[in-house]
Amino acid sequence: MIESDFILKDFEVLNVSNGSVTWKTPSNIALVKYWGKQEPQIPENTSISFTLDACFTLTNLEYTKKEKKSEDFNFEIFFEDKKKEAFKPKIQQFFQRIEQYVPFLKDYDFVIKSRNSFPHSSGIASSASGMSALALCIMSLEKELNPTISEEYFNKKASFLARLGSGSACRSIEGELIIWGNHSDIKGSSDLFGVKYPYEIHGNFKNYHDTILLVDEGEKQVSSTVGHQLMYNHPFAKQRFNQANNNISKILEVLQNGGLKEFIAIVESEALSLHAMMMTSNPYFILMKPNTLKIISKIWEFRAKTGSNICFTLDAGANVHVLFPEKEKEIVNNFIISELIQYCQENHYICDRIGQGAKQITI
Ligand code: DP6
Repeated sequence: MIESDFILKDFEVLNVSNGSVTWKTPSNIALVKYWGKQEPQIPENTSISFTLDACFTLTNLEYTKKEKKSEDFNFEIFFEDKKKEAFKPKIQQFFQRIEQYVPFLKDYDFVIKSRNSFPHSSGIASSASGMSALALCIMSLEKELNPTISEEYFNKKASFLARLGSGSACRSIEGELIIWGNHSDIKGSSDLFGVKYPYEIHGNFKNYHDTILLVDEGEKQVSSTVGHQLMYNHPFAKQRFNQANNNISKILEVLQNGGLKEFIAIVESEALSLHAMMMTSNPYFILMKPNTLKIISKIWEFRAKTGSNICFTLDAGANVHVLFPEKEKEIVNNFIISELIQYCQENHYICDRIGQGAKQITI
């Protein structure tokens, strides 16, 4: 599909005067990372992620048709029951980017009410779940205006719109494994939206666990958006994008054949390569904290000692995502509790696992 396929034409706002819709949308964790992009939110390399389950955003969108279409977007935003003016510019920018595809936005007054299942200050990226939830709410309104759209189109366009809010958000519409970015090995893959991993997923990766160790719950010193920009003129950019695309080819096979050792090698290398890009940017920066490294070395020690298939990944922050197969959950959980949570801020951690994607909620 191409960009123009996502422009809504021939709709009639008169038919839909007001309503309300709610979506519950998960976060995701990338196994092969997206770091570096071109306008408009086109990734420099393909990425793949596990959709999560316990970390989600719940967003309600109320819409009321205006007497007359206005010049600007009208919306109020509440986060965890409090009016949140600080979120307005990001949403205003999102509306501007998506208006050409959903040309009814200025026909309605909106009230957006959002909350996260995870603590706001946890350092967990909320843009993926937050932007995908809002994109899905807008798609529900589009479906009211144009009830003939198929579920497939609905999901693709939701992912397409979410991408324009935050790149990784396009991987938060469906489960369990989502690929974003055009790749020669994956038919139907696209830079414009996420697609489901197209093959059978080996039993080893069913119900995979992700326990998130909250090492640093503060604001990040460098946002992802700035980090992406620093990949322009980065001395290792080209090699990094090639490495990621090669890792996609490798992981596609591993996810089918169940090779846990190969999985670990790819996923940990991806996490460290991402942070290596940060450390070699101009200006350089480090998002890991001393406790991030302590946890990593403890994981390596434990793996060497027990032969466990535990591994880690990182996103753009200090928190550590501890990944492990369902059949090792007891031994790994015991290890996490006895040896790792001491490195978390106030012993905080979140037990999550691979999930099935967003759900519309009826209230
Ligand atoms: C390190 O999707 O947050 O988590 O598109 O600027 O909103 P924007 O960036 P964002 O970047 C996520 C980067 C990452 C890796 C990943 O999720 O693939």
